[in-house]
Amino acid sequence: MPKFSGELGQLNAIEGEHDVPFAVQRIYYITGVPKGVTRGFHSHRDLEQVLLCVNGSVKIRLKTPTNEQVVTLNDPSRGLYIGHMIWREMFDFTEGAVLLVLASQHYTEADYIRNYAQYLCEAEKYFEKGDIQG
Ligand code: TYD
Repeated sequence: MPKFSGELGQLNAIEGEHDVPFAVQRIYYITGVPKGVTRGFHSHRDLEQVLLCVNGSVKIRLKTPTNEQVVTLNDPSRGLYIGHMIWREMFDFTEGAVLLVLASQHYTEADYIRNYAQYLCEAEKYFEKGDIQG
């Protein structure tokens, strides 16, 4: 993300559709996660998101039916884009960590897949079709 830093500190500016590949409809942030807690355990059918850890550090586990990757977020200038049908788990939040999320849609519970067996069922079809958008 664009960064302006100097003796006064650091400022990052993020513009929807320029610095992230969608118009930002929603912003939320996760704070105060106790040591040892893992959050997430879901996928989204249509939602796109960019995650930034603006203070501290957090790990994000990303899964598809055939791949798994862990990304460490610890730099306020770096965003992690998560496209459709990616299973995510957030863990190892350091004390004081702030996870900022930019989202392409308003909150819709119907867009979530929270059951892993259901996720595998839908994701296998989704990725098999080659309908990969991120
Ligand atoms: P959830 O997305 O399950 O959090 P996480 O994946 O980080 O563990 O959301 C937790 C709760 O917050 C759930 O009851 C839904 C609610 N919520 C909203 O009302 N609006 C939002 O934009 C988000 C992200 C969550």
